[in-house]
This record gives sequence, structure tokens and C-alpha cells, in this order.
Amino acid sequence: MKPKVLITYNIFGGLYREILKDFDIIIPATEEGSFTYDEVLAMISDCDALLSMWNFPVDERLLSAANKLKIVANYAVGYDNINVDAATKYGIVVANTPDPVTEPTADIAMGLILSLLRGIVAYDNRQRKGGYIKGIMTDLGYSLRDKKLGILGMGRIGKALAVRAKAFGMHIAYNNRHRLSTAEEEQYNAQYMTFDELVSSSDILSINAPLTKDTYHIIDAEALSKMKADAYIVNTARGPLIDENALVDALRNNKIAGAGLDVYEFNDTVTKELTELDNTVLLPHIGTQTVEARREMAQFAATNIRNLFFGGRVAKVNQ
Ligand code: GLV
Repeated sequence: MKPKVLITYNIFGGLYREILKDFDIIIPATEEGSFTYDEVLAMISDCDALLSMWNFPVDERLLSAANKLKIVANYAVGYDNINVDAATKYGIVVANTPDPVTEPTADIAMGLILSLLRGIVAYDNRQRKGGYIKGIMTDLGYSLRDKKLGILGMGRIGKALAVRAKAFGMHIAYNNRHRLSTAEEEQYNAQYMTFDELVSSSDILSINAPLTKDTYHIIDAEALSKMKADAYIVNTARGPLIDENALVDALRNNKIAGAGLDVYEFNDTVTKELTELDNTVLLPHIGTQTVEARREMAQFAATNIRNLFFGGRVAKVNQ
């Protein structure tokens, strides 16, 4: 009997069928259709693999009902939607899609930095509205050259951002759970700093860490109060890394200069107060929203499943 894979969201059905040809596939009937939590819960008990979207909750209740499950392959690099401790307890592998998301997410972080420092979105809005647009010496932006970019979380995306920022002449500092080797610090021209040093000395602070129990609200009111008043913050990782109410307060009261966000604390929905501020650039979680990334993520997630059963590399985040 073929192993059974349940796919929560129907995109790239043809690609999934090709990579998972040795599996029985359960997938929503319509293109871009999704199974609800209750539907997945009702079907999971005899499934061998689950391919989940990043916003699908894979909680202990679901995992404890999954009697045969060997792998949860998340369609994302982030896996904060999955109870990894429970999966580990039940002997279930959790896998993610690191490679395809690295470059496009770093591109969006760089885009947010450029937009904030040079007013790209703000000037575009003025052009469309007409009326006053600019003076010679008003609303000046800032050159990126020689600014200090502090990268909080120097994993793949942090490093890809460092490569881009270096090309713009920026100075790179970073903080990470594990310090990079000297060779890597030289490769990325990146100076290691403590969290406090990084937060208080960066001109732009970019959040590139995963969301875990330890990083939840890592940027809180206290951290924001340590930032320079002319510094910007950029978040392309996960919303709850920043205490969004504290961020609104800091932006409103000009405790920091601005924020570029692709992710939000509350269900990835932008807080209304952020939209009322003119020192924000607000994107709707588009870090991986490219033709290439979408397809490569599907390919990567399905390959994680195939390889677990038939041999080959699996991008495991546990075990
Ligand atoms: C996107 O947010 C991802 O985690 O891949």
C-alpha cells in the first residue's frame, strides 16, 4: 500500500502528483482550495505525511490524533504554526523549506530599507495625489552608504541581507544565538554585538530571527527605548517578535524614525494605528510572494516528504 499524504492547500497539484507519484494524495478539490482544521483532524489518523501551509495550525490535538504520521512538511521556512515539541514527543519529523525563501525574503528586507530611507513609497503616493510633492531641501532621505545595519538573527536570510547591504556600502553588525565563525564574520563583513549593543547602535535594525518562545516580543518597549531616535526597524520574519503596541507608541512619539514591516503581530493583519502613521512602510507578508519562490517551496516541501520515505535530504527542524 502506498503511503498517504494529506496536503492542506491546493496549489501546484500537478507538481505534487509528479514528485509524490509513489504516494496516495489527498488534496482539496479546487485550485487554491484549503481543508479546514476540522477536516484535517477527521482525516489525519491514517495519513503518513502532512504537507501544511504556514498558517495552518498543527497543534498537539491534531498530532495526537495522527497515529501513523511520520512527517509534517511545512510550506514555509517558519514553523511557528507547528507544535514542534509535541511532534518530537510523538516521533514525527518536522521539515521546512529554507532554501527557496532566503533570497526573496532578503530582497524584501532590502526593499523596505530603501523605501524607508529614500521615501520611495511616500513619494510615489505624493506623485499620484498631485499637489505639493517636494522642495529642494525638504523631506530629505538618507543615503544607505556608511549606515550601520544591525541584523538580529544571522541565519540564511540575515546573511543574504548582509550580502545585499554590503553592496550598498552599509556596515553590518549582527546578533545571533550562536556567534559566526571568524571566517564567516569576515565573509559577511559582519561585526558581532550583544543584543543591547546592536539595538542601541544600529541605524537600521532588521529582524531576521525565527519566532520561538525565546524570541517572542524580543523587541519590546524596553528594546525600542534603547534604539536611536533616528533609527529604523524592519521586520520580515514573524510579527510577534515585536510588541506591536509598543512599536505603535514608539513610532507615534518619534522615539524611533520609522518601521518597514512585512509581518504583523496579530494574525498577520496590519494594526490600524500603523496605517495611520506616515513613518511606516507596510507590506502584506510578501517575502516569498514570487513566481519562483512559490513553485520552489512546493517542490522543496514535497521532496522533503518523498525523501523521508525513499531516501535523500530532508530539511528537518527537529530530531
Ligand atoms: C514565509 O513567511 C516563510 O516562513 O517561509
